Amino acid sequence: TTVYVPRDSSALGLGAERVAGAIQMEAAKRNLPIDLVRNGSHGLYWLEPLVEVATPAGRVAYGPVQPGDVAGLFDAGFLEGKAHPLCMGPTEEIPYLKNQERLTFARVGITDPVSLDDYLAHDGYRGLRNALGLDPAAIVEEVTASGLRGRGGAAFPTGIKWKTVLNTPADQKYIVCNADEGDSGTFSDRMIMEGDPFVLIEGMTIAGLAVGATQGYIYLRVEYPHAEIALNQAIEAALEAGYLGDDILGSGKRFHLEVRLGAGAYVCGEETALLESLEGKRGMVRFKPPLPAIEGLFGQPTVINNVISLASVPIILDKGGKYYADYGMGRSRGTLPLQLAGNVKRPGLIEKAFGMTLRELLYDYGGGSASGRPIRAVQVGGPLGSFMPESQFDTPLDYEAFSAIWAVLGHGGVVVFDDTVDMAKMARYAMEFCAIESCGKCTPCRIGSTRGVEVIDRIIDDQDRAKNLALLRDLGDTMLAGSLCALGGMTPYPVLSALNHFPEDFGEKSVAQV
Ligand code: NAI
Ligand code: SF4
Repeated sequence: TTVYVPRDSSALGLGAERVAGAIQMEAAKRNLPIDLVRNGSHGLYWLEPLVEVATPAGRVAYGPVQPGDVAGLFDAGFLEGKAHPLCMGPTEEIPYLKNQERLTFARVGITDPVSLDDYLAHDGYRGLRNALGLDPAAIVEEVTASGLRGRGGAAFPTGIKWKTVLNTPADQKYIVCNADEGDSGTFSDRMIMEGDPFVLIEGMTIAGLAVGATQGYIYLRVEYPHAEIALNQAIEAALEAGYLGDDILGSGKRFHLEVRLGAGAYVCGEETALLESLEGKRGMVRFKPPLPAIEGLFGQPTVINNVISLASVPIILDKGGKYYADYGMGRSRGTLPLQLAGNVKRPGLIEKAFGMTLRELLYDYGGGSASGRPIRAVQVGGPLGSFMPESQFDTPLDYEAFSAIWAVLGHGGVVVFDDTVDMAKMARYAMEFCAIESCGKCTPCRIGSTRGVEVIDRIIDDQDRAKNLALLRDLGDTMLAGSLCALGGMTPYPVLSALNHFPEDFGEKSVAQV
């Protein structure tokens, strides 16, 4: 019997390793042969550690399992998928999972992440095989047709970015994967790298073929040690089997890949600071232009994309750009892996076509707050995203719909707060975060963020409130317009959205204004 226990770090944090050990010991004690597979997480985090058993009728799920539950599970006959208070029934029938549209995450939770055979058995490397039969411009064309936009947060069309690199002549070009996932409440990059590293490797290889780059780097945040292990194991397996290296599947095409670790600076997720760091320098933001697509890593044309953007490429090359573009709404095509976190009953990963409303996400999937109190605010798009009040919960998850109300979808992170939240403190936190993480290159961010914390403190202390509120708005305008990168440039989003939507927390009665 095959038993699955995730190796995903959130599951490990909840005790998956001890559960796996207990299952093995109990099986040995009872003389029951089992095949224990360490899969990725399905992303149903409130059920982790989620143990699954393969039965003739498909996988059956049990969760959340603790070591103390294991003997009871054996007694109940869980190896045959029998009933137990922790039994959730067939995994794929769990509504949270069943109602998703998993394209990028199709294999996560299902396969053994570092088994190339398992990857191939689940449609892996079909995209690369198709790409090897196309000329570079045709690969770029397919990605353009898919409508894929940068999933790191900025939503720039991936096909246009690749075309710029393809059309810039150079002896050496690079593919860089931004795996410095720094946004609060986000974990989709990590889940892919831990749960299906081959899909990222395949996507980067296709990107290399598309633009004529022979070397790729994954810039991984140092806080993701399990992802590092999985990526390196998968890279080695791909290299050995000829999916990477000097002669990819006998085509004569070349692509090599290495993992590089960051050192814990949020700003190194900004693409030019990342490139500096990758070159071995201090992570300072560069002026743009030139764009990295023209002069990127070591001054060479570079495709720099987020993990999810690159991991979405294999299915596009497998099934065609049109297949992907048929999902979504307006200019937001395909799917977005949303990450639900904070004060929510059922946190987890929800991959859905663009267009679902925030309310559906929060209640149909999330089940409301974990505390049982009313949800008062959600922050979407990381620490630089706007706070959204209940009156905005019917907004569809779509880049344009969000920007129309001065909010951002960003990397798809959603952090939930109940009615005990103090929004003035949240605004102060956002400003302080900017002060701590600022690279220091430009004045509005370096000085503005520190002065901003002081101004918010005076507002909270009720000193000269009207004057300081005006000063805060003025500072917000300066940071928005005058910062060199998104760190200083977007900090006013959480600060001013908190002030506009929740003025009562700032002692202000004035109507919302942006
Ligand atoms: P941006 O809008 O300046 O650039 C977007 C991308 O398009 C960049 O890669 C840029 O080089 C490229 N680009 C623009 N014009 C191009 C052209 N003509 N040809 C080729 N490439 C072109 O945005 P930026 O500053 O890179 O990112 C800001 C976003 O990052 C924010 O919206 C925020 O949501 C997100 N973010 C994500 C974080 C995460 O952890 N994933 C953390 C912090 C921010
Ligand atoms: Fe550096 Fe902040 Fe300016 Fe960005 S906005 S370049 S992080 S000082």
